[in-house]
Amino acid sequence: MKPGNAKPLDPAQVRPDFPVLSRQVHGKPLVYLDSANTGQKPRVVIDAVEGYFSRFNANVARAVHQLGEEATSAYEGARDTLTAFLGARHRDELVLTSGTTMAINLVAYSYALPRLKPGDSILVTTMEHHANIVPWQLVAERTGATLKVAPINESGELIVDRFIEMLTPDVKLAGFTHVSNVLGTINPVRQLARACRERGIASLVDGSQAAPHLPLDVQSIGCDFYVITGHKMAGPTGTGVLWARPEHLEAMPPFFGGGDMIRKVSFDGTTFADPPHKFEAGTPNIAGFVGLGAAATYLSGLGMDRIAATEQALLDYATEALQQVPGLRIVGQAAHKAAVISFLIDGVQSHDLATMLDLEGVAVRSGHHCAHPLMDFYGVPSTARASLAFYNTREEVDRLVAAILKVCKLLR
Ligand code: ALA
Repeated sequence: MKPGNAKPLDPAQVRPDFPVLSRQVHGKPLVYLDSANTGQKPRVVIDAVEGYFSRFNANVARAVHQLGEEATSAYEGARDTLTAFLGARHRDELVLTSGTTMAINLVAYSYALPRLKPGDSILVTTMEHHANIVPWQLVAERTGATLKVAPINESGELIVDRFIEMLTPDVKLAGFTHVSNVLGTINPVRQLARACRERGIASLVDGSQAAPHLPLDVQSIGCDFYVITGHKMAGPTGTGVLWARPEHLEAMPPFFGGGDMIRKVSFDGTTFADPPHKFEAGTPNIAGFVGLGAAATYLSGLGMDRIAATEQALLDYATEALQQVPGLRIVGQAAHKAAVISFLIDGVQSHDLATMLDLEGVAVRSGHHCAHPLMDFYGVPSTARASLAFYNTREEVDRLVAAILKVCKLLR
């Protein structure tokens, strides 16, 4: 079912799954509108993590005892769940990482660094957050390659024709976000990945902000690399996934060396385990992945199409409501958007606004959102940002608007 046709979820049914949503902040019921920063965790995830520590805490892939087997089976079971969640062909295509940042750095150092030479380029877009900029700058510096930037328009949409024109023979890899963390823009990732592929250019899609909100299918996207982070999709912090085409994982040298990524070690040299294990040195974040597996199961159980439909309706409602606030301007008005609303209010500093909203129990993020170049594009140092999730309600949007109206009187 397409997200647009799916039946929205009933917030009254899902909210009790999230213990934190019933707490008070500064004596007021919490309105949590910072899910693009980190998502809240349902009870099943909290219980899964607690269950690992209280019932089968042991290391993975090392012990033959019962607890070790249970831990290994739960950890590797999470890889299976995430394989299905991403629509990957095989579990060995998933490297479990500490998050998107680690996943992109792994591609930068293990895939790009050995291949790039002076005169080569990496293409990114203006709307990337720092994790999809800085690793490429670091490898560009070390190889003599250049970073190029595909432009966006004032609405916050990638200028797709321009992106495709910029896929010239010097470009060896293009990195682009699926959903912008600041603008909410949903990029046409299939089209972009196809254009890269037709030109023999590797593509990396940053799915950090897509995984919590949209049904994913890496095979139909057709990219070379897709990265997600666990904590934005109801899972624990310190978890993430690099999905890669198997031929890339075969060819890439390991990034970190240590235990668990080897086949045989001697002082004369080391041979490595097969992918994905050759990229997973050391004891992993076992509890985190047990939790992330539970998170993916939970989200899939609700239905990613229903989550997308719920959030789309809430986005429309919130956009309409916020536009009624005098002096408020929404930054990012793409035709295809996820439920992220960045905004500016005449005469009000974003940081002051967020601080005052917090006193009303309303949590929004303010700042540059780890996207300095995008702030520069709009000529602002920061924005306020309300990022919505399927567990938010229209009443909470009303609370946000009422709180903005109240605090703006004090701040102006
Ligand atoms: N965590 C960052 C955000 O809030 C990137 O969007």
